[in-house]
Amino acid sequence: MNLLSANNLSHTFEYKLFSDVNLELNTGETIAIIGMSGSGKSTLLHILSTLLIQDEGSVSLFEEDISSMSKKKLSEMKRHDLGLIFQSHYLFNGFSAYENLEVAEILSQNEIDEILLDRLNIKEVIKNKVTKLSGGQQQRVSIARVLTKQPRIIFADEPTGNLDTTTAGEVMELFFEYCRDKNAGMILVTHDENLAHRCQKVYKLEDRKLQQVK
Ligand SMILES: Nc1ncnc2c1ncn2[C@@H]1O[C@H](COP(=O)(O)OP(=O)(O)O)[C@@H](O)[C@H]1O
Ligand SMILES: [Mg+2]
Repeated sequence: MNLLSANNLSHTFEYKLFSDVNLELNTGETIAIIGMSGSGKSTLLHILSTLLIQDEGSVSLFEEDISSMSKKKLSEMKRHDLGLIFQSHYLFNGFSAYENLEVAEILSQNEIDEILLDRLNIKEVIKNKVTKLSGGQQQRVSIARVLTKQPRIIFADEPTGNLDTTTAGEVMELFFEYCRDKNAGMILVTHDENLAHRCQKVYKLEDRKLQQVK
């Protein structure tokens, strides 16, 4: 099944970032987007994940154009089906890490997976306030929060940016396993070419175009 389809996307801020961008994501598929800093990767991911509206073109999620979805449908879809993991993670700072996961548990009605906490190596710190955690620990909690939702598509923007190489590798393995097991899709933005090549397809944003390089 087609999870995401982007058609002829263009976007301009101070200057034209990209035009005629086309992309398809199917169930179980993982796609990486690479490109120089400032090329518009994060902007493109924001558009694909419904956070920003493109200047031109269209985005369909689960075979429906998002511009024709009701607000209610769009927010339900965001809550249940889309997993956003961005550089600035959106944890509630006044809460403990565990309370943050409980919010995801309640909203999605999926139980917190203890194995996941173990694999992300956050079991020992889970009762601490978010503000007491290191950047890397906060990043792993936000990954646990997103996977607890069991989204159908993961959008990840440099999700392992705060982690050392070994931990980053382990965390990425979790994402790949998740996509295989749940038949979910992932769009990963990264500057790390080795990491990108662990995805089934690789696209490069360069000279305002998105080209498939793998
Ligand atoms: N909300 C915004 N308003 C104005 N300019 C923006 C905005 N977001 C990004 N930009 C600009 O768009 C360009 C591309 O940014 P970005 O998509 O973050 O690139 P990348 O993720 O590839 O580094 C940058 O020059 C950035 O300053
Ligand atoms: Mg970026």
